Amino acid sequence: MSEWSERLQQRQAAGLYRQQAMHRGAQGRELSTADGRMYLNFCSNDYLGLAADPAVIAALCAGAQRYGVGAGSSHLVCGHQQIHAELENFLCQWTGRQRALLFSSGWLANLAVVAGLTGKGEVVLQDRLNHASLLDAVAMANASLRRYAHADSAAAQRQLERRKTRLLITDAVFSMDGDQAPLAALSALASTHAALLAVDDAHGIGVLGDQGQGWGAGFSQEEVPLLVLTFGKALGTQGACVLGSEEMIDWLTQSARPYIYTTALSPALAAATLESAQRAQQDHWRRSALQERIRYFRTGAAALGLPLQKSATAIQPLLIGAAAKAQEISHRLLQQGIWVTAIRPPTVPAGTSRLRITLSVAHTLQDIDRLLTALAAVWPPDDAAGSEGDAADA
Ligand SMILES: Cc1ncc(COP(=O)(O)O)c(C=O)c1O
Repeated sequence: MSEWSERLQQRQAAGLYRQQAMHRGAQGRELSTADGRMYLNFCSNDYLGLAADPAVIAALCAGAQRYGVGAGSSHLVCGHQQIHAELENFLCQWTGRQRALLFSSGWLANLAVVAGLTGKGEVVLQDRLNHASLLDAVAMANASLRRYAHADSAAAQRQLERRKTRLLITDAVFSMDGDQAPLAALSALASTHAALLAVDDAHGIGVLGDQGQGWGAGFSQEEVPLLVLTFGKALGTQGACVLGSEEMIDWLTQSARPYIYTTALSPALAAATLESAQRAQQDHWRRSALQERIRYFRTGAAALGLPLQKSATAIQPLLIGAAAKAQEISHRLLQQGIWVTAIRPPTVPAGTSRLRITLSVAHTLQDIDRLLTALAAVWPPDDAAGSEGDAADA
């Protein structure tokens, strides 16, 4: 047996093997698989139902007609088009920031922030449950990673008191937990300890704030000097943006390798994102309908005694524990026509595998009733699977 087959078998035995499921058709309340079966979709990040919105699709097509599909080169060679500038200006106005820089994914934007603003040996302090891209970026920067207990500003303070910290960085809304970072406290701490604060609002943009400006933009540029937004969640497209002061964004333009050495964001996608961001800002009904669905799910889940987490956002995880057990529960939901992927290590810490249920404006309340009925049939998960899966990965 080859080394790779052996490794793959170990993954499978531990309940940690991953594979793509092929779907046909656009994101929406339902998913259809290659064999034609339909499932209610409770794991997409398309919280506002914009991924297949007709106005966003029309903007993509019009953008492609006018600017082409591909940018042809990086932003700094000849790939930066008028539509990119229009999108940057809109995002600045929406979030109250001076200047913006576009990226073709959130992963690249986070690499750019960490690697562009820190150097060899400098301390980057992060929440323990930050997104993988933020953690990995520290290695690229050759910086020194320190972590504090999840959403615990007192723990962050202890770390800041212990050593000079260059960058304090946190998810605004935690991607696998749905809860929100204590940004007011972190901002005060960063300012006291002369650390730069950066906030990744991938899951807050469009969803939180009275204009959908997100959780991070609820704070001024002085309080949160660097803000990362991604377009692939509530905005329903793809790409990302870093926002901040003129000087800091200019510095990133000069120095951030994930900006300089890659093809510019597709101008057609920039056009689609401008439309979807405008929809997200103006369509208050999307946010209120989403909030109604979140409340409806939480009320129903509480009545069933399900272990709800402290989340007021579209991300509503149900913790299970062992990876194999989470996968089994996910399969049993599939049999009832409900698609919720099990999230396992290393995406989440060992022993905290879960169903990451996400809600969307596309769901009806009857869809949520169906989800709750299906959950009632599989809950509580019995302990038979033990924790061997997680131990193997820990
Ligand atoms: C908090 C957070 N930051 C960054 C990313 C990466 O964004 P993208 O999918 O655009 O690369 C994600 C998504 O997976 C995320 O959840």
